[in-house]
Amino acid sequence: MAGRSNPSADAAAADKASTAGEAAPVAAGQVHADATRIGAMLAEIARIGPDATGGGISRISFTKDERTAHDLVSGWLKALGFTIKVDAIGNTIAERPGTVPGAPAIGVGSHLDSVPHGGRFDGIVGVVGAVEMARLFVENGVATRHPLRIVIFAGEEGARFGEPCVGSKAVAGNLGNRDLALMKDASGISLADALRAIGFDPRTVPTARWKPSEWAAFLELHIEQARVLEMTETPIGLVDTVSGSTRLRVELTGRADHSGGTPMDVRADALAAAAEVVLAAESLAKDSRNRGARLTVGRLDVHPNSITTIPGRVRFTIDVRDVDSDRQRQLAVEIVRRTRVLADRRGIGVETELIADTSPVVLPIWIREQSSKVCEELGIKYRVMTSGAGHDSQVVNAIVPAGMVFVPSKDGLSHVPGEWTSASDVARGVEVLYALANRLDGLLASLEGMEAGSSSAA
Ligand code: GLV
Ligand code: MN
Ligand code: MN
Repeated sequence: MAGRSNPSADAAAADKASTAGEAAPVAAGQVHADATRIGAMLAEIARIGPDATGGGISRISFTKDERTAHDLVSGWLKALGFTIKVDAIGNTIAERPGTVPGAPAIGVGSHLDSVPHGGRFDGIVGVVGAVEMARLFVENGVATRHPLRIVIFAGEEGARFGEPCVGSKAVAGNLGNRDLALMKDASGISLADALRAIGFDPRTVPTARWKPSEWAAFLELHIEQARVLEMTETPIGLVDTVSGSTRLRVELTGRADHSGGTPMDVRADALAAAAEVVLAAESLAKDSRNRGARLTVGRLDVHPNSITTIPGRVRFTIDVRDVDSDRQRQLAVEIVRRTRVLADRRGIGVETELIADTSPVVLPIWIREQSSKVCEELGIKYRVMTSGAGHDSQVVNAIVPAGMVFVPSKDGLSHVPGEWTSASDVARGVEVLYALANRLDGLLASLEGMEAGSSSAA
């Protein structure tokens, strides 16, 4: 596959590719995704892991609920004739063979886990969209030269262990056995123990690693999780850059004491110090020199958390996101430095731990160019945009060229129960995904020198 990730070679091959793409028995623009079917799949998955109140979803990574959701979708894909495998970290990979023996696969997928009290669409849209796309191939009798692999990644959300994209990091070879023992959730359960509890053997995780030669491209449909598409009335976003994130756990230790008996000038209040850190993080991110960076303290545990006791200890997390990898790390260093300075001033002890670090990624321009062509052919307005959230695609892109297609998020909301995207918006995304998979099948076949005409009805 020489030249596959070389934009100029790909640009030169693009015209040939569109000829190959047209060889598909049912032209992309004539194939329509079914919004009713999409809505029904979204509703069925939303029945797994609902919150008791508030209408949100807590389908947390590496739990039985996540496995139940994978099993449900596996059943749908099996019914479409796909063969199903679950790898050692819990990624589900469903395959429909291609017509050219030994050809690398085109992968399509996303994740089914959610953050605590999250929504019904983040990740789910990419999985449901991949299933609907698979149905379009099957029901229209359209074969591909490359195998189609629908991938449901395990543990994309970093909310439980701090580390995001665990399933995709395992396939990319970025996860060691040591990491599995060291990563702990808020109750002190290691990822290794969490895996054992749902029937996996953490020692086998290295077997999940993908061979790059077995993958041609990876595509992910996802909700935007911001409001640019909605505000600009644009139905499709094509992602150029995905933000990275550096995550820290901080523990401030002061002195717990009586809230009535202790004068203000002799206190060592860990929460007052933490409040200053929260504001320091906000002001760093709002500094115009750091435009585009985002810093968030999203979790804060106060001890003893009592009305009448001065907080003696506070543990919290800081999530630093940026599309600039140097600045992302510099800001993480800077917030730790500021934390130490202000804690020293208050006589508070500081411990910090780096819990996750994922680099920002520029996705391959050639996939985006092909995606633009698809949107133009389908007459769909699109815009090229960055992703503020992290995604499995940014991780697998290290070993297989990846592309991302966004659909609008109502009011830009995400990671909350109010997250919402209409089924018809998802259906439009699926039509782009279907046409793009077809187009890449043709483009890559021509680059790989595959037999013309080897695409035929299944
Ligand atoms: C994934 O949703 C993330 O936190 O970026
Ligand atoms: Mn997601
Ligand atoms: Mn998410």
